[in-house]
Amino acid sequence: MVTVILPAAGQGKRMNHVTNKVFIPLLNRPVLIHSVLAFSACPEVDNLVIAAARSEIAFVEKMLSGVAGIKPWKVVAGGSERQYSIANALAVIPDTVEVILVHDAARPLIKPRMISQMIAAAREFKAAGLAVPLKDTVKKVDEDCFVTETPARRSMWIMQTPQAFDAAILRQAYIHAAQDGFLGTDDASLVERLGIRVKLVEGSYSNVKITTPEDIIIAEALMKKRYG
Ligand code: CTP
Ligand code: MG
Repeated sequence: MVTVILPAAGQGKRMNHVTNKVFIPLLNRPVLIHSVLAFSACPEVDNLVIAAARSEIAFVEKMLSGVAGIKPWKVVAGGSERQYSIANALAVIPDTVEVILVHDAARPLIKPRMISQMIAAAREFKAAGLAVPLKDTVKKVDEDCFVTETPARRSMWIMQTPQAFDAAILRQAYIHAAQDGFLGTDDASLVERLGIRVKLVEGSYSNVKITTPEDIIIAEALMKKRYG
């Protein structure tokens, strides 16, 4: 069994939009629905767990109910941090599930083929993340914004989602993070703390995360190109 967790319980502060950014329509379909349909189109996926803000649960349930072709789904209440939203989703996933994927609802351009690749990678390597090579040079700086270091670009990758895991390993990573009070910005970082190696699978630069207003323009342009 393969279950996908889609965290959608953020506030989209950097988008500065009236609603949660995952409800913004792209080509007449909300960002969240694009993401949910991409996973529903992947034959290896069995079901979905969506984390929504408590005040938006009913709205999300209604939205999902109105769309045909979505794999069996469940909505859980999110938490104050992305990691807590995913922990709440993990709590409702039965032990019969072998592979768990985590995908930001805010990445609506993910392709079903990439999802299949990530599921295969989770089965082979136990922990895997979709990522792309860094295009820009990165600097480390001090508190006054003076450069302290220039890490070699060729060894730097940008993490995306989905990230895909052997279910038992992901559960263990979340237990350890909670015990230690560790808060990560992605799921792989929790698994890395267990000393387990995470395999990166090369994704696509078009798998953008909707974060700031210009991402809407970029995502819509990419979708128009894809769907004609
Ligand atoms: N997310 C979540 N629960 C939270 C915070 C974030 O489920 N407490 C989800 C978001 O809805 C999003 C994904 O995690 O789909 C990635 O987070 P991010 O891009 O940071 O979204 P937001 O937190 O909503 O945006 P911002 O940080 O700008 O407020
Ligand atoms: Mg956030």
